[in-house]
Amino acid sequence: MKGRDPSFFEELVEGQQPEILWISCSDSRISPSSSIGLLPGEMFVHRNVANLVVHSDMNCLSVMQFAVEVLKIRHIIICGHYGCGGVKAAFDDSRFGLIDNWLRHVQDLIQKHSATLNAIEDDRERLDKLCEINVVEQVINVGETTIVRTAWEAGWDITVHGWIYTIADGIYRDMGISIDNAEALRELRQRAATGL
Ligand code: CO
Repeated sequence: MKGRDPSFFEELVEGQQPEILWISCSDSRISPSSSIGLLPGEMFVHRNVANLVVHSDMNCLSVMQFAVEVLKIRHIIICGHYGCGGVKAAFDDSRFGLIDNWLRHVQDLIQKHSATLNAIEDDRERLDKLCEINVVEQVINVGETTIVRTAWEAGWDITVHGWIYTIADGIYRDMGISIDNAEALRELRQRAATGL
């Protein structure tokens, strides 16, 4: 890096101006910055098991508030992934201890979308669908936060995106559910309520 840009690290010390807040699963097989070709300083990151945005999670909300209001990021990317162990554990009702409580949020989604999920016969496909549903619901949760709602009301240009990653081929897919205003959020919420 120094060979290409001798002052790169000196400039990093001065501060950060990322345009993206990235929220993804803690899974070690996902290495976001390097695999989408971003340099240090270009992406603010929050990760947790199953990439959940829980309304009362002060950790996630604090990251989001700082990213939006102080760093003035323009994009929030929720990135789920196929084969998510957290999503699978929730689906299988596996018992791993404390984390089962965290994954209860995914189990709520399983109940909410039971008609869609039960219509899929293949186990793998059903789990893939649940991973996708989880991304859609977390994009909605981001849009519902006071942070993003307030920013939109003030006319700030912030877009929330839903992506999904395939570990098997290293490809990120944009799910085409980006929202950048309250009306788009309402429409996405409506789609989620009537079956995805
Ligand atoms: Co995962």
